[in-house]
Amino acid sequence: MKLLAIESTCDETAAAVVEDGRKIQSSVINSQVQEHRVYGGVVPEIASRRHTEHIVEVVRLALEQAEMTLSEADAIAVTAAPGLIGAVLVGVNFAKGLAMASGKPLVPVHHIRGHVAANYLTHPDLTPPFLCLIVSGGHSHIAQVEDYTTYRILGRTQDDAAGEAFDKAARSVGLPYPGGVELDRISHQGDPGRYPLPTPHTAGKYDFSFSGLKTAVINLSHNAGQKGEKLVPEDLAASFCRKVSMILWEKLEAAARDTGAKKIVLAGGVSANSWLRAQAERGCREKGWELFLPELSLCGDNAAMIGAQGYYEFLAGHTAGMDLNGRPYMEIGEEF
Ligand code: KG4
Ligand code: ZN
Repeated sequence: MKLLAIESTCDETAAAVVEDGRKIQSSVINSQVQEHRVYGGVVPEIASRRHTEHIVEVVRLALEQAEMTLSEADAIAVTAAPGLIGAVLVGVNFAKGLAMASGKPLVPVHHIRGHVAANYLTHPDLTPPFLCLIVSGGHSHIAQVEDYTTYRILGRTQDDAAGEAFDKAARSVGLPYPGGVELDRISHQGDPGRYPLPTPHTAGKYDFSFSGLKTAVINLSHNAGQKGEKLVPEDLAASFCRKVSMILWEKLEAAARDTGAKKIVLAGGVSANSWLRAQAERGCREKGWELFLPELSLCGDNAAMIGAQGYYEFLAGHTAGMDLNGRPYMEIGEEF
């Protein structure tokens, strides 16, 4: 079964063709990051307008690269939540138009479920149940993925998402948006022991909090400024990457221990972080747990992951009618 999938929840206009939830036939991404960089973050109205301009060409290319026509697709999958609502609506309405014109089923997909499903593309043998750390620009969760469409959240962030924390720390040392990847890149020239950073306390055993780290970085920057010095970006990057990956791993490890999980999966933009990947690899090796990491090219936003999850949503009977609407917020366990 071939799904044509569309993703437009943030600053990437993406389309893909995915076969049986596991095989990428094509994946096209038009990124707006250069344009938003000037403003230090995504400007929602600009994002919506660019999606409107690019979506026709991106979808056309995805079909062309998969060497097929719209009539050969078996269903149309689209990310319908959560995300910047003006951006989400561009993809949702375009997908509805395609579904109406072609008579194919319309499959709404939750963006974060898509990030988890990026692992089905990378690891053909991965099947639920497993324990998943989901870390993106807008979300940080520890979730039990019980089957392809059933999730139980064990922990979540109480304030900033992990990706937000990376981006803010990066900005404090003058790195451009989105700073997470830049911070990761320069961290390997830095000293991870140079700047002490606090370990945040949370009420929930598996919950996260990153706002204290953000304040700590601001304070470090002020203190350095008062001495007429500047933070060394490489050292800050190394200290920050090590701290965040330790925090994420400790919570994930506790959840895995308590639930008896043997399969550990990482998902979302921050799962590209080299410190987090190395920490998870070390930890899982020590514990004898099996670790699944998404391929780097599938960590960030793309439509292939939406096509993968869309397949399993379709099998579960989760299709939508022509009254489908986009939603800015939605829990991963909710249905459309
Ligand atoms: O999942 P994603 O592409 O978009 C959302 O759904 O939010 O995540 C984007 C986030 C950004 O905050 C970005 O800085 C972060 O993922 N990110 C990284 C790395 N690559 C992307 N953070 C740390 N290290 C990286 N290598
Ligand atoms: Zn995302």
